[in-house]
Amino acid sequence: MARILITSAIPYINGIKHLGNLVGSQLPADLYARYMRQRGHEVLFLCATDEHGTPAELAAAKTGEPVAEFCARMHAVQADIAAGFRLSFDKFGRSSSQQNHRLTQHFAAMLDKAGLISEVSEKQVFSVTDNRFLPDRYIEGTCPNCGYDKARGDQCENCTKQLDPTDLINPRSAISGSTELEVRETKHLYLRQSQMRGKLTEWIESKADWPILTTSIARKWLDDGDGLQDRGITRDLDWGVPVQKGDAPWPGMEGKVFYVWFDAPIEYIACAAEWAEEKGLDDAAWQRWWRTGHGAQDVRYVQFMGKDNVPFHTLSFPTTIMGANTIAGEDWKLVDYIKAFNYLNYDGGQFSTSQGRGIFMDQALSILPADYWRWWLLSHAPESSDAEFTWENFQASINKDLADVLGNFVSRVTKFCAAKFTTEVPKSGPMTEAENRLMVDLTTRIRAYEGFMEAIEVRKAAAELRAIWVLANEYLQATAPWTAVKTDPARAATIIALSLNLIRVYAVLSRPFIPDAAEALLAALHTGDDSWPDDIVAALTTLPQGHAFSVPEVTFAKITDDQRADWQIRFAGKRD
Ligand code: MF3
Ligand code: ZN
Repeated sequence: MARILITSAIPYINGIKHLGNLVGSQLPADLYARYMRQRGHEVLFLCATDEHGTPAELAAAKTGEPVAEFCARMHAVQADIAAGFRLSFDKFGRSSSQQNHRLTQHFAAMLDKAGLISEVSEKQVFSVTDNRFLPDRYIEGTCPNCGYDKARGDQCENCTKQLDPTDLINPRSAISGSTELEVRETKHLYLRQSQMRGKLTEWIESKADWPILTTSIARKWLDDGDGLQDRGITRDLDWGVPVQKGDAPWPGMEGKVFYVWFDAPIEYIACAAEWAEEKGLDDAAWQRWWRTGHGAQDVRYVQFMGKDNVPFHTLSFPTTIMGANTIAGEDWKLVDYIKAFNYLNYDGGQFSTSQGRGIFMDQALSILPADYWRWWLLSHAPESSDAEFTWENFQASINKDLADVLGNFVSRVTKFCAAKFTTEVPKSGPMTEAENRLMVDLTTRIRAYEGFMEAIEVRKAAAELRAIWVLANEYLQATAPWTAVKTDPARAATIIALSLNLIRVYAVLSRPFIPDAAEALLAALHTGDDSWPDDIVAALTTLPQGHAFSVPEVTFAKITDDQRADWQIRFAGKRD
């Protein structure tokens, strides 16, 4: 049994996420967490809301709420939707927590001690029209790297390059569009990431087993001369973690807060502390996940994120961790594996939060249960390239995979048994060639499925699971119990006894993907036995002769053409 720490990139607080966000981090992280728990490992699965920064301030200003209230309300909204999608976080924390304030200030002190922080008198963009300093992402302009003309001052969305606002060509205020910008002098802290180039390079080069998507993005910025520029980690805002050196004030930094991208990844650690507090546990309980001198040497730490987040997780956050460890002598856990995802597009364009384009998490749940979305999204996860959601593809996949293949098998077997025998598992007789072949095929495919789940090959795992479901239909087709029952009822009983057991096995195997349906199937089979099919022969005799079951409600309903057409129209326009 291993101990596995899993984090998903923490979603921004301002607004409800779309399905592209969901499949890029939280959902595959949940799949992995559920699988690892099911296999008996000790898992701590953490996520939180990313609550600081200008977007939070501006979103609160728009609703007229004080920003702290806005964040508390939106956190509850996001937590509710996460629960609706069955995201099985051990803790859904908040980056505005006291734990994160303390840890962020602590790391800043450690990095300062390590000589990795410099104080820079900086010229900052001040918008005369807006009468305020403009935070990075509220300055727009042309990317000096790729020429994209809507690049933001913190990052170019098009080429993922981390930027400083002064890098932008033809900058303008994103608030008013005004180009009447002035540069004024103010003091800020900088994280000297460039000092860590050697260590970071060595570390990334040692990760031969990481997905190419992750290492290629990291290498790109390590090799690029200024990809590892020193970065400002303070801002002139009210809302955020006040700049302090641990508990002590930081002279000259009064009234400033840490940059949201500095405190957000530290929330991964703080979230474990929030989890311990909620559970009434002491500091040792969370430190054994996060400090290698306190038990975390045995932990495997896996992070999930969209590709735009990779630079922060392969360069900036590791600088924070390595700086505190190798120079200041602490013992924080460094990530062991980073699973990154490409983008999911929506019907010929991009999902866009700012433009309200696509399907948002709350809307998705309002039209169909979580399992439908989980299955489609995970089986089409944008792993090796971007993927695209279309309503046609969604309808076809759901109807085929969930309704025709899995759902139909369950309903045929249970209804047939109830009609021709009773609602109890019938008596099983000798196995034939058909059963033996099925068991061989199942064993091969289940082992392959386990391999893909371990390796977090999400699409391949889904394809293997679907292939496992298909085996059951092929078996029924080949053995035709509806014919056998007329001439050889004992043979039909054998087929059905095995098939009922197969439903239990499928519920167990499918649970990380479609947890609600899995629960419903186990409930219909009146069993709490969710043991993993390590040995298929044993697994297929788990429910003995005479074990009662109920014919389940329709496991998955088909999506009709009318529904599809209706949703297509409903989601074509902008969300209000
Ligand atoms: N809020 C960021 C986003 O949605 C992700 C932050 S991940 C963390 O892109 F590492 F900073 F926590
Ligand atoms: Zn660019």
